[in-house]
Parts: sequence; C-alpha cells; structure tokens
Amino acid sequence: MERPSKASQSRGSSWKGLLIITASILSCWIQPTSAQDITVEVEPPLGTQGLSVTFHIVGYSGTPVMYNWYYKTSAQQPSRKHIVTYSTYNRRQLQTNIRQRVYHNGSMFFPNLLVNDSGYYEVQIIKDRWTLDRPEAGAPLKVYVGLSKPNIVTSNNTAVENNDFTLTCNATGYLPSTTWYINQRVQHGTGRIRLSPDNKTLTLPKITRSENKGPYMCEMVNIVSHVNSDGFILDVAYGPDSMTILPAADRYNVGEHIQLTCSAQSCNPPAQLTWLQNGQLVSNSGTFSATAALNHAGNYTCVAYNSLTGIRHSQSMNIIIYGE
Ligand SMILES: *[C@@H]1O[C@H](CO)[C@@H](O)[C@H](O)[C@H]1NC(C)=O
Ligand SMILES: *[C@@H]1O[C@H](CO)[C@@H](O)[C@H](O)[C@H]1NC(C)=O
Ligand SMILES: *[C@@H]1O[C@H](CO)[C@@H](O)[C@H](O)[C@H]1NC(C)=O
Ligand SMILES: *[C@@H]1O[C@H](CO)[C@@H](O)[C@H](O)[C@H]1NC(C)=O
Ligand SMILES: *[C@@H]1O[C@H](CO)[C@@H](O)[C@H](O)[C@H]1NC(C)=O
Ligand SMILES: *[C@@H]1O[C@H](CO)[C@@H](O)[C@H](O)[C@H]1NC(C)=O
Repeated sequence: MERPSKASQSRGSSWKGLLIITASILSCWIQPTSAQDITVEVEPPLGTQGLSVTFHIVGYSGTPVMYNWYYKTSAQQPSRKHIVTYSTYNRRQLQTNIRQRVYHNGSMFFPNLLVNDSGYYEVQIIKDRWTLDRPEAGAPLKVYVGLSKPNIVTSNNTAVENNDFTLTCNATGYLPSTTWYINQRVQHGTGRIRLSPDNKTLTLPKITRSENKGPYMCEMVNIVSHVNSDGFILDVAYGPDSMTILPAADRYNVGEHIQLTCSAQSCNPPAQLTWLQNGQLVSNSGTFSATAALNHAGNYTCVAYNSLTGIRHSQSMNIIIYGE
C-alpha cells in the first residue's frame, strides 16, 4: 500500500522564475527571489476518518501578508478549489464556517476528516501585495476508515464436544488483515486448526473440553489502526459421561422412608435428571423420596440428559415393598 509519509512537493519555482525574469525586464521594482525550497508536510502522514491532520509549511521563513490554501483531487489536476485565506495582518482567516483552521505560521489544521477529504492540498504564500513571486507547495492526503473493535462471531451459540466449531473475527473498515491468537499464541492455520483464506475465520475440528477452551482473540490491523477483540472463552458442552444411582436400600416395609438419589458425572451444562417408575415420571430431579406404600413397588429408572450434546444415559433398579 502506498505510504506517502514524507510525500510533499514543491512546485512552480522554475516557471515562476521565468515569469519573474520577464517581469524584471519590464520594470525594476520586483525584488530578487530568495531560493527557498518550500514543502508541505502532513502530520500525521495518513488521515483517519474522524481524526485530524495538520499541513505544515516547511522551509519558509519570511513574514507574508497572506496564505491561500487550495484543494484538488490529485496533484496532476489542473484546476483547484480555494478553501481558505489567512491574513497575517488581521491575524484571522477569512472563511469561518469551515472545518479547517489556519495558524499564524500558515499551517492548516484539518479536523473531523472524511474519506472523501482525500486529495491534494496546496498553499500559496503571498509575500506582499506587489511581489509576483508567490511560492507554492502542496502535499497529498489520504483518509482511511479506522477499524472498529472487532467482535468474535461463532458458528453456533453452543459449542458441542466432538463437533466442528468456527469463530469469525468481525469488524468494519478498510482492508484489514486479521491475526488469530489462542492462549496468546499466533495461529498460522497449520495443523488441525484451520484458517479461511482471508484469515478471518478459524475452524476447530472436533472440539474437546480440554483442548479448545481458549481464550481466543483476534486482532485486525489496517494502515491507520490496530484493534483487537476481547478474549473469548469457549464453553464446550459435553457429557454426561456416566451416572450413578444411590439407593439407600431396595427393599422397604410399608411406612418406611424411600430415598433414591441419582447423579451424572462429567456434564456441561449439568444434566437434567428425572426418575421414572415403570416408565411413568415420578421426579423431575435427581432424588425421589416417598413414604413406602404397596404401589411404590416396581422398576425405577433415572435418566440423565444433556440437551446441548443430546447425550442420554439411564440406570434402573427394582424396589420391593413388604406389606403388613
Ligand atoms: C505552526 O503553528 C502551530 C500552532 O501554533 C504549531 O502547532 C505548528 O507546529 C507550527 N508549524 C510549524 C511548521 O512551525
Ligand atoms: C463527503 O462525504 C460527506 C458525508 O459522507 C458528504 O456530506 C459530502 O457531501 C461529501 N463531499 C464530497 C465533496 O463529495
Ligand atoms: C448448532 O449446534 C446444535 C447442537 O450441536 C446443532 O444441533 C445445530 O445443527 C447447530 N447449528 C448450526 C447452524 O450449525
Ligand atoms: C459485525 O460487526 C458490525 C459492526 O461492528 C455489526 O453491525 C454486525 O452486527 C456484526 N455482525 C455480527 C454477525 O455480529
Ligand atoms: C493470512 O495469514 C498468513 C500468515 O499466517 C499470511 O501469510 C497471509 O498473507 C494472510 N492472508 C491474508 C489474506 O491476509
Ligand atoms: C427396568 O426398565 C428398564 C426400561 O424399561 C429396563 O431396561 C430394565 O431392564 C428394567 N430393569 C429391571 C431391573 O427390571
């Protein structure tokens, strides 16, 4: 990409010189020109939309009466548009309802830049009313859109173990280049973890709870800005891997307290636990308790279910009730 950092140009010296020689033949009141190499420098060299630049006049040391600033779309364009005149005698600029501000030394401050302010800016120095030697210099300005803070957009709201998962770095702006970091290590798209050709999307094949937590971060850089996302932790859903049921006993006398407990191991999010008696729901939690009656006899099944992974486990037992 073009980087016009020191890009500044002076122009007009040679043909103006000719003009002055011609003028000198006709009359003698024109003073000889001092051979100054005047340039315009832009600070900072690249414009960012919404920010400002200052055009400095470098290499001029006199005290002129006036500065005129002009705009044209490119250095080559013959016609130019007048922007502002600054009178050093009155210490003020003549146009006030514009964004640009000219300082007493002729520098022009240009805030709240827009992309379409890109172009070529030139200054004309009017030394005094009578001198035809009016040095000019100009410099190009390119205004870029700065990047917004990127956010990480995922392929799915839920990351499920053993499934593929993708993360995309999302930002607006001008041709940014993207870099992904996992645990602060730069990713090159080599090995298992893949990158899209534009480097914006990271694909994790068959994610696991232990390897793919992250944190993930993406960074975007363009010619005028450098931004990165917040760290992103992947909450991988997994399990249940196994379950256990804890019957205090499997034989009860009528009137005794029945207590059945069930739990699921290794599950994110926690499993939904239910107890069924002969296929009928009797508890919406991991515990079933009751005062034993004859109709409590039967086959009890606890079901552990993870709605994100779709994994379901169950375990069953028989309860025998002794009557009086
Ligand atoms: C001109 O004046 C402005 C405001 O005082 C200052 O910021 C800037 O550096 C000056 N430029 C030069 C080239 O001296
Ligand atoms: C530059 O863009 C602004 C806002 O996008 C618009 O209002 C303005 O007319 C444009 N100027 C030119 C010269 O195209
Ligand atoms: C999101 O993940 C769920 C659970 O694994 C899956 O059923 C669904 O198809 C996924 N959706 C997309 C768009 O990948
Ligand atoms: C991407 O970022 C833009 C601008 O920040 C935002 O408007 C858009 O909603 C984001 N897209 C997604 C899918 O989050
Ligand atoms: C993607 O990143 C690699 C380095 O990891 C780089 O060589 C390549 O140029 C990048 N591609 C784009 C389109 O930015
Ligand atoms: C209980 O019922 C389940 C499901 O109907 C069945 O798979 C299991 O074998 C039964 N257990 C006993 C101990 O009868």
